[in-house]
Amino acid sequence: MIKKIEIAIEEFDNINDLSEDDKELIIKAKEIAKSAYAPFSKFFVGAAIRLKNGKIITGNNQENVAYPSGICAERTALFYAGAQYPQEAVLSMAVAVFKNEEYAKQPVTPCGSCRQVMLETENRFQHPMRVIMVGEEKIYVANSVKDLLPLSFDSL
Ligand code: THU
Repeated sequence: MIKKIEIAIEEFDNINDLSEDDKELIIKAKEIAKSAYAPFSKFFVGAAIRLKNGKIITGNNQENVAYPSGICAERTALFYAGAQYPQEAVLSMAVAVFKNEEYAKQPVTPCGSCRQVMLETENRFQHPMRVIMVGEEKIYVANSVKDLLPLSFDSL
């Protein structure tokens, strides 16, 4: 028997079809991507998250000559928010990439480790996180991290 799992991703061709809140987050993610420290990959990622208290936190990838010591943009933002605003749920996150002197055309989809951390945040605050994956030609939106990480590990 094959069990099929469905996930839901909304696709947009035009940023103007998104809400003002989403657009604001996208702009912030694109801005912060440019100041990533990514001398090794030259893949500049920006993440912006909106907290329940209205604050927007941004982060970008921080690389290291010892490669595994670096960290992705999404986790930079989430861990900063977790440290500074431990009581605030994360409502949404936008992720964007700048590479070869331009913003990526296709949406950037978070890596597995970031998805795991994003899910932890969602579970911790019992609040779904809207994930906006930005590309110049296409934008994907997931209404919950659960759609990005089916069959996740959740028992200790
Ligand atoms: N990276 C992110 O910041 N976020 C992702 O979702 C994928 C990958 C970073 C890690 C590394 O600095 C560079 O992009 C290339 O993988």
